Amino acid sequence: MADLDEILRAAKSNSGPAVLLTGAGISAESGIPTFRGEEGYWRVGSKNYQPTEMATWATFSRMPDEVWAWYLYRRGICRAAAPNAAHRAVRALEETLEDRFVLITQNVDGLHLRAGSTEPRTYQIHGNIDFMRCADECTEALYRIPDEVDATWDKGRKIDVATREHLLCPACGTRARPHVLWFDESYDEIHFRFESSLAAAAEAAILIVVGTTGQTNLPLHVGSMVAERGAPMIFVNPEPTTFTRMVDDNPLGLFLEGTAGDHLPGLLASVAEALATP
Ligand code: APR
Repeated sequence: MADLDEILRAAKSNSGPAVLLTGAGISAESGIPTFRGEEGYWRVGSKNYQPTEMATWATFSRMPDEVWAWYLYRRGICRAAAPNAAHRAVRALEETLEDRFVLITQNVDGLHLRAGSTEPRTYQIHGNIDFMRCADECTEALYRIPDEVDATWDKGRKIDVATREHLLCPACGTRARPHVLWFDESYDEIHFRFESSLAAAAEAAILIVVGTTGQTNLPLHVGSMVAERGAPMIFVNPEPTTFTRMVDDNPLGLFLEGTAGDHLPGLLASVAEALATP
């Protein structure tokens, strides 16, 4: 394990981008439950479903209204939340580094964009809960879920006819689906920036991973690519996860145990200073 000064010196000597990879943990201090926390289940009738059971094309095909109800419920939580100091620190680093910066986020809550991170440099690799797209894929277009939904959706978690009318593809009129990557679906470039994320990992001057258990394969692949290059890598999390082993085995790795709010403002200011000065 290296110390921060050594890591920043090594990052400064590389012309690649600073790459941030964030997970649900960066939004925990905004009040959004993490994915694998105990509060994650959803009741349908008398059965409790885990997110991994609800967030699938198979479940949507079988009970679309229930899946939409779950997503509209979670969308409401995300819309009521506000970006926190960690999101703002990420935005500030992008403002300093501009095109020498890439943000890869697993979060669908949209808080990075609401904190001011820019869409072209923010790879939302699991989608965004505020958007929908055609379930029949008549188009690749994304549509923001209409605000009218909030007026018609009975917060009692049922989808009624009036709400269903707002959840149709504007292009062909058939049912729309949430713009979120489901567990039985694959990453791609057009919707989830798959190749762009791997390209960023291949040339990153430094990778900073924040708030993730590392249970999904693209984030793990990004981390492994940087670790295999022996490139500078920092992991910020309150408890050890898969990424802790990656940084422990990396001569230029560092595990900062603690929350995103505790570490990111100071850490990203140091990264900005190290990489911005010629
Ligand atoms: N600051 C930083 N990290 C935190 C904080 C905090 N304040 N609070 C919790 N964490 C950490 C937890 O310790 C945990 O390691 O955030 C991590 C959240 O892990 P998960 O709930 O598994 O979320 P994530 O890793 O983002 O899940 C990845 O899996 O289920 C799919 O698509 C879903 O995007 C999600 C992906």
